[in-house]
Amino acid sequence: MKLPLSRRALTAGAVAVATLMTGGAVAGAAPATAPAPASAAAAAPDIPIANVKAHLARFQSIAQANGGNRAHGRPGYQASLDYVKAKLDAAGFTTTVQRFTASGRTGYNLIADWPGGDANQVVMAGSHLDSVSSGPGINDNGSGSAAVLETALAVARSGHQPAKHLRFAWWGAEELGLVGSRHYVSSLGSTGRAKISGYLNFDMIGSPNPGYFVYDDDPVIEKTFKDYFAGLGIATEIETEGDGRSDHAPFKNAGVPVGGLFSGADYRKTSAQAAKWGGTVGQPFDRCYHSSCDTTANIDDTALDRNSDAIAYAMWELSR
Ligand code: TRP
Ligand code: CA
Ligand code: ZN
Repeated sequence: MKLPLSRRALTAGAVAVATLMTGGAVAGAAPATAPAPASAAAAAPDIPIANVKAHLARFQSIAQANGGNRAHGRPGYQASLDYVKAKLDAAGFTTTVQRFTASGRTGYNLIADWPGGDANQVVMAGSHLDSVSSGPGINDNGSGSAAVLETALAVARSGHQPAKHLRFAWWGAEELGLVGSRHYVSSLGSTGRAKISGYLNFDMIGSPNPGYFVYDDDPVIEKTFKDYFAGLGIATEIETEGDGRSDHAPFKNAGVPVGGLFSGADYRKTSAQAAKWGGTVGQPFDRCYHSSCDTTANIDDTALDRNSDAIAYAMWELSR
């Protein structure tokens, strides 16, 4: 089902906003070079893949120290949330932990607001932070969680001040049926929901035998992602491995424009797909989907890097 572009939907070709560069270097920032010209200052940064992979390594060690998973209601979930929250707090985000109950256990969403921008036009990126109980969940969904975290940290490093308000979210209990994101959307009420210009979802973006799938939802968000990949000369396909199988569904059902990226789960790569993307014909995009082998070895670095850079590109473009 496609949603029509609503009155408050995102606009393409928006006016560039002069970005205020911060003078001081921030820990973890790229080495300082010559001052960027104003036009370059408004461009999205290249997200460092090494930083994204460092977050994944931390998620894996958290799972190892907590019974092999980061699942809802388990200590590995809490530790994952504490790790992400500490990074965001140190970078200057306003963080909120939202509690809910699922299957008799307390769950948590983490919301991070970047101060500034129009509070009536919120551009949001989110990913689920819980794993299944059978494994550490590094592709599903450490990948989305780490890339969204690194995009948020890049916003802080660049002192980015877009016209719209930026919000980032990490959902709990997705694997139990989108429980955290459903809870958040209902907690917003119709007034809160009307302020969200767009919600971008990232669930599995580093699959080891990757495809490049773009959600076929809001046309402006979809075009933004397609433009990014077209600029790299990479073919994309529409995501068809189960519409509504991730945290964008509650937003979509509430009338919020949504979009997202996906590198594939348990469907198998066709010969046509292998011809354009490489990889192994007849094998699943992620042979370790929901398994104990979904570790840091279960990641294609190139796909994770491209998708991470695409998140930053979209967040910059859609918030002008
Ligand atoms: N959400 C699923 C999970 O976490 C993964 C998945 C399957 C998916 N198909 C999808 C995510 C399509 C996004 C889009 O187990
Ligand atoms: Ca990159
Ligand atoms: Zn998932």
